[in-house]
Amino acid sequence: MPFHASRQRIEEASALVAGGVNSAFRQGIAPHPLVFTAADGPILTDLDGNRLIDYFLGMGPMLLGHRPAPVVEAARAQLDRSILVAGQTELEYAAARLLADLVPSAELVRFSVSGSEAVQAALRVARAVTGRSTVVKFEGHYHGWFDNVLWSVAPQLEEAGPPDAPVPVPGSAGQQPAVDVEVLPWNAPEPLAARLAAGDVAAVIMEPVMFNNAGILPRPGYLEAVRAACDATGTLLVFDEVITGFRVAPGGAQQLYGVTPDLTILGKALANGFPVAALVGKREPMSVLAGPVLHGGTYNTQSVAMAATLATLTEIAGGEPHRRIAVTGTRLMDGLRKEFAGAGMDVQVVGFPAVFQVRFDTGQPRDYREALRADRAGYTRFAARLLEHGVRILPRGTWFVSTAHEEGHVDETLAAVRAVLAEGK
Ligand SMILES: Cc1ncc(COP(=O)(O)O)c(C=O)c1O
Repeated sequence: MPFHASRQRIEEASALVAGGVNSAFRQGIAPHPLVFTAADGPILTDLDGNRLIDYFLGMGPMLLGHRPAPVVEAARAQLDRSILVAGQTELEYAAARLLADLVPSAELVRFSVSGSEAVQAALRVARAVTGRSTVVKFEGHYHGWFDNVLWSVAPQLEEAGPPDAPVPVPGSAGQQPAVDVEVLPWNAPEPLAARLAAGDVAAVIMEPVMFNNAGILPRPGYLEAVRAACDATGTLLVFDEVITGFRVAPGGAQQLYGVTPDLTILGKALANGFPVAALVGKREPMSVLAGPVLHGGTYNTQSVAMAATLATLTEIAGGEPHRRIAVTGTRLMDGLRKEFAGAGMDVQVVGFPAVFQVRFDTGQPRDYREALRADRAGYTRFAARLLEHGVRILPRGTWFVSTAHEEGHVDETLAAVRAVLAEGK
């Protein structure tokens, strides 16, 4: 498949737009970043006219596929009423109601624009409520691109210190020094309980399934142990469900695993592609947002985005998206296992029908460091080759599935995988 027109356009545009892209995560994807002309259902069309089956899904948000009718119609209708009012609309109250019905921890809700911002609000709430400043995060977990959390997201082992006492490694040049943030290994209850025992940690923040790196599930009992350690020490537990929310279950990982955090960050699939995120949580910590804790944003609850949020949540609450994806996503996961096994390869397909991870690995890692043993370079090559066959997957191994992916798309995808594997790894 040719990608020449995209390449040329990126090169030209780089004179005007830094790197030709507007997010660091769109850079460096082989063969080069693509330029798109249309997106519909599960299909992207690029500048070269290629038709690509899409498992990026906008990096996760498009749970209902690209341009689903209920969301498009709601957004279009709202354009005739208001765009931004710097005040309240019934839309945001209706959307908040649905969130509270879906997500176990959501007793109070605050909407914002991006997941990165909602994380900042969560940490401010936690510090205000506890009167403490230190936040514990985990190696390999991503909580947005801001200075205070972009630590040890994908560190090189040489820089990362001993496994039981990791050293925070910055994720970017120009980042402020690590202030009030400590990094621990994930999926290990003991080091966390030992650290929290000092009684000076405001919050523990984690992806309850580690999807930003390697797609690692929490070990049985781990989330419960973290919950207990937080309870015992007055530490707030924050689940960053920007990826897991509405995907691993309608109510996110907290519903699936039955462990309720104090605060939750939601984003991505919440609004099916419109820029909306939310901080939700238990009434008591969240109520400081109605008092001394400042959280703002000109574009919070922008009317069109809220109409899209309400339409998306209405679909999710109806149950049909998860019923559909359970069938197609499972067909895809099973099919991939069969294709890789048929090619004699050790490959792990781990996760849930709406979001899963494919790892060139012999077993299940416990944490970030164990996950480094996978053949990640081989997977990146595989992703680039699959693109040549008309299937767009993230080079880091996460697959997002939407309601718009039908059996035929899955079978086409599996045929493309077969063709790539037949060419040799
Ligand atoms: C788990 C997690 N938290 C936070 C974020 C940041 O969200 P946003 O990109 O909307 O700022 C992301 C984005 O990928 C994420 O995956």
